[in-house]
Amino acid sequence: MPQVNMTVNGKSASGQIEGRTLLVEFLRETLGLTGTHVGCDTSQCGACVVHVDGKAVKACTMFAAEAEGAEVLTIESMAAPDGTLNTIQQAFQDHHGLQCGFCTPGMVMSAAALLKDNPKPTEAEVRDYLEGNICRCTGYHNIVKAILAASGQDVSAIAAE
Ligand code: FES
Ligand code: FES
Repeated sequence: MPQVNMTVNGKSASGQIEGRTLLVEFLRETLGLTGTHVGCDTSQCGACVVHVDGKAVKACTMFAAEAEGAEVLTIESMAAPDGTLNTIQQAFQDHHGLQCGFCTPGMVMSAAALLKDNPKPTEAEVRDYLEGNICRCTGYHNIVKAILAASGQDVSAIAAE
């Protein structure tokens, strides 16, 4: 079996893969990074979003071999080593942006990519960006509010839901 080498959350990561091994399988099964979720087999749900070379990618749509030499960030990279949540995670907690939490890793990784490119998005821009992330619980309202709050915008006028 061929070997793949990449940097995951700042550390070198290598493993034997088959040609058809998906990046999400490599992360979850070889590296044990199970924060990246699999919520569909149709590339629609976004639960598997990670960053590859700084871009948000659905890790179920990419072969592990395609990430050879890449810098990959997963949800496990977001909190500080002592467990302190990053700004986006904290905003999700503060604004009830999650219920079951299944979609949350992908939502947080997508939000991080959005805010990197667009540090002060409008509500419409957040909703538009999240089109590839499905949440079956929250109705999206509080997720959008959390992301706007994480961007430093005043969300006090947005009703709670
Ligand atoms: S598991 Fe990747 S989009 Fe659903
Ligand atoms: S919080 Fe349950 S799927 Fe989004």
